[in-house]
Amino acid sequence: MSRLTIERVVSGYADMEVLHGIDLCVPEGEIVTIIGPNGAGKSTLMKTIFGLLKPTAGRILFDEEDITGLSPDRVVRRGLAYVPQVENVFPSLTIQENLEMGAFILKGHLRDRLQHIYELFPVLGDRQKARAGKMSGGERQMVAMGRALMLDPRLLMLDEPSAALAPNLTATIFERIAAINEAGVTILIVEQNAKESLKLSDRGCVFAGGLKCFEDSGPALLANEEIGRLYLGG
Ligand SMILES: Nc1ncnc2c1ncn2[C@@H]1O[C@H](COP(=O)(O)OP(=O)(O)OP(=O)(O)O)[C@@H](O)[C@H]1O
Ligand SMILES: [Mg+2]
Repeated sequence: MSRLTIERVVSGYADMEVLHGIDLCVPEGEIVTIIGPNGAGKSTLMKTIFGLLKPTAGRILFDEEDITGLSPDRVVRRGLAYVPQVENVFPSLTIQENLEMGAFILKGHLRDRLQHIYELFPVLGDRQKARAGKMSGGERQMVAMGRALMLDPRLLMLDEPSAALAPNLTATIFERIAAINEAGVTILIVEQNAKESLKLSDRGCVFAGGLKCFEDSGPALLANEEIGRLYLGG
């Protein structure tokens, strides 16, 4: 089954069309990575899927139901979580408060969900009362991912989860992404660190100039010499 289907989506900002007709399918249980140069429209697609931007044409289906133009709070309730590229934690709140914010629509006890997140990211469990603003870049990314996972989503969208992280932390983050996927969450990633991300991806797409210009399985993209030269640093 297709968890997320994008059909001929056109979107952008005010007077500027950025995405000129994107088609994309994210099958249930898979990891799909979008790569491509700065300004290609990768973040714009994520914002459009999550309802922060309204597409001017095309359709977005989540679990085969039309979610085109739904507001972010409605999209979240259906089980689609999103970790933005920037400003993805509340710096003045503690780690635990950040995680609780992620579950603001849940009634009742959050303890089991918090426990699950602390098992996934033990470093957060050790520092529950620390302010997120005092955490390192990698730890903040874990807080942001933890917050998105509080509602037990069926699809997790991550916009550049390894941006500006030291190589050892990048490895940790990708390891956790693989673990989240193994626990049953379908994942759509936008990533500059294309090689590392494609290694764990079932499929990858290349965006350029607001269009999807290439798509293949993760291993095939990694083995593609031209893609390697153009987008994976040789
Ligand atoms: N809030 C905004 N208002 C107006 N234009 C924007 C806005 N955000 C992005 N853009 C423009 O839309 C185009 C696509 O930007 P987008 O952020 O989707 O690129 P990207 O592929 O995510 O790039 P990067 O790899 O640098 O994150 C760019 O030309 C950018 O300048
Ligand atoms: Mg971006």
